[in-house]
Amino acid sequence: MYTLKKLCLFFLVAFVSCETATKDNVEQKEIMTFTDKHTYAQPDESVVTHLDWTAAIDFESKTISAKAILTLSNSDDASKLMLDTKALSISEVLVDGDQIQFSLRAEEEHKGSALEIPITPQTRQVTVHYSTSPGAEALQWLSPQQTADKEKPFLFTQSQAILARSWVPIQDSPGIRFTYNAKVTVPQGLMALMSAENPQTVSDDGVYNFKMVQPIPAYLLALAVGDLTFTSLGQRSGVYAEASVIERSAAEFEDLESMITAAEELYGPYRWDRYDLLVLPPSFPFGGMENPRLTFATPTILAGDKSLVSLVAHELAHSWSGNLVTNATWDDFWLNEGFTVYFEQRIMEKLYDRDYSEMLAALAAQDLVEEIEAMTEAGNAKDTHLKLDLSMRNPDDGVTSIAYNKGYLLLRNIEETIGREKFDHFLKSYFEKNAFKVMTTEAFIRQFETFLQQESTNFDLNTWIYQSGLPEGIKLPSSNRFSEVDEQLTKYMAGAKPDELNTQQWTSHEWLHFVRSIPETVTNTQLAELDDAFGFTKSGNAEVLTGWLIQVVKHDFSPAYERLEDFLIHTGRRKFLSPIYGEMIKTEQGKIMASTIYKKARPNYHFVATNTLDDMLDQQ
Ligand code: BES
Ligand code: ZN
Repeated sequence: MYTLKKLCLFFLVAFVSCETATKDNVEQKEIMTFTDKHTYAQPDESVVTHLDWTAAIDFESKTISAKAILTLSNSDDASKLMLDTKALSISEVLVDGDQIQFSLRAEEEHKGSALEIPITPQTRQVTVHYSTSPGAEALQWLSPQQTADKEKPFLFTQSQAILARSWVPIQDSPGIRFTYNAKVTVPQGLMALMSAENPQTVSDDGVYNFKMVQPIPAYLLALAVGDLTFTSLGQRSGVYAEASVIERSAAEFEDLESMITAAEELYGPYRWDRYDLLVLPPSFPFGGMENPRLTFATPTILAGDKSLVSLVAHELAHSWSGNLVTNATWDDFWLNEGFTVYFEQRIMEKLYDRDYSEMLAALAAQDLVEEIEAMTEAGNAKDTHLKLDLSMRNPDDGVTSIAYNKGYLLLRNIEETIGREKFDHFLKSYFEKNAFKVMTTEAFIRQFETFLQQESTNFDLNTWIYQSGLPEGIKLPSSNRFSEVDEQLTKYMAGAKPDELNTQQWTSHEWLHFVRSIPETVTNTQLAELDDAFGFTKSGNAEVLTGWLIQVVKHDFSPAYERLEDFLIHTGRRKFLSPIYGEMIKTEQGKIMASTIYKKARPNYHFVATNTLDDMLDQQ
């Protein structure tokens, strides 16, 4: 039984009126009964439905001064609006135009400071005047030297998971969606881009207006400012990059339109109008970030041979899994990432073939098995559950192979059990039915079980979701093409020369598997011989290079140390940094080297990378 009050509260959150109670809405109300432990927001009382943001970007002081006008939807007894903030300096708050006394609570670890603003049920708008701090965790301010063109400064944001609050006072919870407009002033000559409708040319006066009509959660708020140019790749897609990388970027991503079409053929229409890519300077801490309409990407995917474009397939797939149907809390993160890895591989299978996507599947399985082992050994078996408990922890702790690859394997197993056709049918209707809504793990289970009943099939989700490790007896994906790589490596270790190995048709995935599989017993003479023949140290493919550098550290292969240092100083992608530094700190000598390099490299890294690495390397 639902009380009228509860129903109405739900409707507030879902932005529909109380009169339109339907079965779907009741279902969505059930989904809404969850608590996000990483926000101060109290959506039962008041939710933000729209943000109007006016901001000036100041590279000198590394601050943004801004005004955020928040449009609210309130419950009948609303008395306060609770916002998330982190290190913001707030000068004034207005409630429907009148200045008001607000309270900014003491900062708590991870969450930041709650901003409490008194309101009434009739309050329409709250205005916050504020500025960010130079150390704002979402923001990275780059000097010209840290960019590709080296002429002008650059700024970018990374809001996921809970860093949006360090640049906008907002309800920073994935379950709360709002539309936004923005007016952003930047130094003349620079271009500003957001996760919104974007310009394609530089404005004369440094002022840019943005409009985002599809409601999004705060973690998808994004801004980049730099010396950028645009190249169109098709009717609804294009790429932004600094001038010196724009041509390489356009060539690497020339198949973007067909990727979007492939995705739509799988799981329904692309709902965000345009899909553009922004290639960032190398300090970007992730491979990609699915900011709506404008995926942010690392330049390390510009391998020159399109070999790393599955990363774009991944970020594009988030336009359905994540951006359209959004994890309710960071404990449900696998709903975003596991679905996305599955979807990514389906896109790659469609664009290339099954053999190709099975290499990705095999790499995912390798990663997963290693991660489960490591977590179990460290006594963290609970972190191998799909449904996590991240209370009192940084949601970043949930960014592991579990959400991605165990999540993926679960969906792959469902597909294998019930058949692809049925599963595709489920997924398509799942995205349709839940579009622009939130999803909890429990609601997913309910929806999937309802579907199974209709189809008279069966699948045990609970073991996968609420137990550690992998269910017994499941078959892990393996790749034919990798079996061939294994054969060649065995041949080499048995005495064959590099030129006798059959490597002609190999893609970078085979090479990655090759370098990862180099056995412990390899000698440094052999490493030198392999490097001479296959040019690993010189590799322009950052995945292969990382795999190789880990071997370099493991075997103390000093001829590659210069490249190692150079790579660590000039790349900020955490996925590469953590395993390399991680391998280095296993020995005393390595520890010294790691900390010497880290001292030089740290100024180039974004907060999300230093936050992980500082702990690992005991520094600051
Ligand atoms: N949304 C993630 C990145 C992320 C996750 C940022 C959690 C902050 C917190 C993005 O879609 C992602 O998964 N990126 C991967 C790409 C890869 C799996 C293809 C990355 O950066 O390595
Ligand atoms: Zn992702």
